[in-house]
Amino acid sequence: MKRKTVTIVNNLTGQEEEFPLIEGNQGPPAFDIRSLYPKMGLFTYDPGFKSTASCSSDITFIDGEEGILLYRGYPIEQLAEKSCYLEVCYLLLYGELPDREQYAHFHRMITTHSMVNEGLRAFMSGFRHDAHPMSILVGVVGALSSFYHHELDVSDPEHQEISAHRLIAKLPTIAAAAYKYSIGQPFMYPQNDLCYSENFLSMMFSVPAEPYNVNPLEARVLDLVLLLHADHEQNASTSTVRLAGSSLANPFAAVSAGIGALWGPAHGGANEAVIRMLEEIGDVKNINAFIDRARDKNDPFRLNGFGHRVYKNYDPRARILRKAVHQLLADTKTSDPLFEIAMRLEEIAMKDAYFLEKKLYPNVDFYSGIIYRRLGIPVNMFTVMFAVARCIGWIAQWKEMISDPERVIGRPRQVYTGPKDHEYEMPDQRGYPTGSTKHCPRCPQSRWSRMGSSS
Ligand code: SDX
Repeated sequence: MKRKTVTIVNNLTGQEEEFPLIEGNQGPPAFDIRSLYPKMGLFTYDPGFKSTASCSSDITFIDGEEGILLYRGYPIEQLAEKSCYLEVCYLLLYGELPDREQYAHFHRMITTHSMVNEGLRAFMSGFRHDAHPMSILVGVVGALSSFYHHELDVSDPEHQEISAHRLIAKLPTIAAAAYKYSIGQPFMYPQNDLCYSENFLSMMFSVPAEPYNVNPLEARVLDLVLLLHADHEQNASTSTVRLAGSSLANPFAAVSAGIGALWGPAHGGANEAVIRMLEEIGDVKNINAFIDRARDKNDPFRLNGFGHRVYKNYDPRARILRKAVHQLLADTKTSDPLFEIAMRLEEIAMKDAYFLEKKLYPNVDFYSGIIYRRLGIPVNMFTVMFAVARCIGWIAQWKEMISDPERVIGRPRQVYTGPKDHEYEMPDQRGYPTGSTKHCPRCPQSRWSRMGSSS
């Protein structure tokens, strides 16, 4: 009978230790190295965590080689075709699809928590009008906790649930308010007779001066984009939320940290970077020059929207979005020159030896920006849209982490490569006047040594 263990041999010392294999329901097994340091005095070294499982989770599964994405075991393709964003929020948060009564209650909870405290309006007025909406989102979401200090006991399941509902419900309201603030228009209140995606479009584009009718096709496409971005296992921003939450910080603070991590162009900021790249390409005849730059090891330029840490096959979300973009532009009889460039870029890149060798396929961010543009959402709001969608993933993963009986604070170690055995060089050894013993007359240390010394 084969033992489900991995043996590590330290060839320097000859020490040999076995570590148990942990097998999930799908995906590669992991070997449990929690006792590695106590047993062998060794750390593992894995910058970027490319071969490291940071946790076990029941929520989302990705098979990067096969291009598979499951939310609680359901294929993303089925959910995209048959479900909606809010039902997927329930699925991710509670682990199963809701029955009629469960969905009605959840829908009512989210609807009736979509307004924000009026005090937040004053908070937002402290930002410059040209502040990037992500800077507003990071600040305002973290500040949300100040309105609920009586319900922030992270060990209380009721506080966990109401915080989850508040975050899911209020992110669109805050996101739309950030947009309205940036264009100097009045904030629009959520409307309880609208569904989640309709409500967001209404808060973004309606004005008090006239009625606003949400375009149902646009609401459906937005709902699809939100659904496809809802969760994605232990990506950078979700890992940030888990790490921040592991210190028992409140969920608003943990999600605010996740928003900050998402902002970068290597992660959620890629959708904004894709559009700016397509605008810079400007014409299909320039595409090859940009692909040459992406191939050039000496050029830091990367083709935004291509490549993925996990998917070494087509991102299944990109495949679904690509189809939705075609349908949206055809149904609304609009053409988008950037979409033409995007399609040509994808066609050329998918035949390029470098991209094929590196398995660089279009990812979810390659197409989402085209849809946001078509919906009239400005480029600087694209990553905000990603944050609105991913909030459920963050809070579901936070809830799983905070409820884990084996939870410990995340505290990685390091391989130290800095200097050692340094002695403090006195000021007169560092360019101060000869005999100087004080590096700064204002420094408390200098005052202390003056008090203690005879000089
Ligand atoms: C998201 O993790 C998630 O799940 C994220 C996400 C989610 O839903 O949460 O899916 C959302 O963030 C999607 C990714 C969006 N980012 C981009 O589109 C930015 C462009 N992509 C790259 O920056 C890159 O592909 C990453 C950051 C996405 C992945 O980087 P990895 O896994 O660390 O891969 P790598 O940097 O080691 O690249 C492997 C090789 C390198 O060449 P070598 O050093 O081996 O010679 O591929 C090259 C890279 O230079 N490469 C690219 C490239 N992406 C990788 N070369 C040109 N253009 C690119 N886009």
